[in-house]
Amino acid sequence: MEELSYHILDLVQNSIRAKATEVEVEIEDSEKKDELIIKVKDNGIGMDKETLRRVTDPFYTTKKEKKVGLGVSLLKETALLCDGKFSIKSQPKKGTTVLAKFKRSHIDLPTIGNLEDTILSIISSSQTFDIVFKIKTDKGEFILDSKDIKKELGDEIPLCSPEVISFLREYINSGIKRIF
Ligand SMILES: Nc1ncnc2c1ncn2[C@@H]1O[C@H](COP(=O)(O)OP(=O)(O)OP(=O)(O)O)[C@@H](O)[C@H]1O
Ligand SMILES: [Mg+2]
Repeated sequence: MEELSYHILDLVQNSIRAKATEVEVEIEDSEKKDELIIKVKDNGIGMDKETLRRVTDPFYTTKKEKKVGLGVSLLKETALLCDGKFSIKSQPKKGTTVLAKFKRSHIDLPTIGNLEDTILSIISSSQTFDIVFKIKTDKGEFILDSKDIKKELGDEIPLCSPEVISFLREYINSGIKRIF
């Protein structure tokens, strides 16, 4: 996982696997504060204390086909390597919040990668859950809420239809460009 976008994708996939119906992704990239924050909050099945204790262990996973669960442990390692912070709060049946903070100017900070395509791929597959992206820089904020898009589209047009995808691509690209 060389790029931070992959971590965002992993966290959202973790939330979906945990049966979340609402996911909130917050990204704050501030040159002024010299920090980059990634926060993903969900209302999924959550974790009990024992699971929570093990979630940053690379050998912990509840995926049957795998022996290692690298997503969260790698994110924590990278955040701490970059003079940042890492925390997970979780409550069974309530949900989970993962927060990773990085020192933006740290030499080991991975690139953000293709944030636009990551958002697009998540949002276009969000037919069965709702997700809101809040992306903030020193220049401004870009918010994208799947609920708003679904409201606009009505029941007939699926989020993954080609026309919707090409509209969303434009919309996300220009939104991101405006603030980066
Ligand atoms: N948001 C979440 N809600 C509930 N459980 C979670 C959440 N995120 C992670 N977990 C639990 O922690 C485990 C480890 O997560 P992690 O992302 O590190 O690995 P993984 O998803 O199992 O595998 P990988 O990310 O390498 O494909 C998961 O298998 C899951 O049991
Ligand atoms: Mg994972």
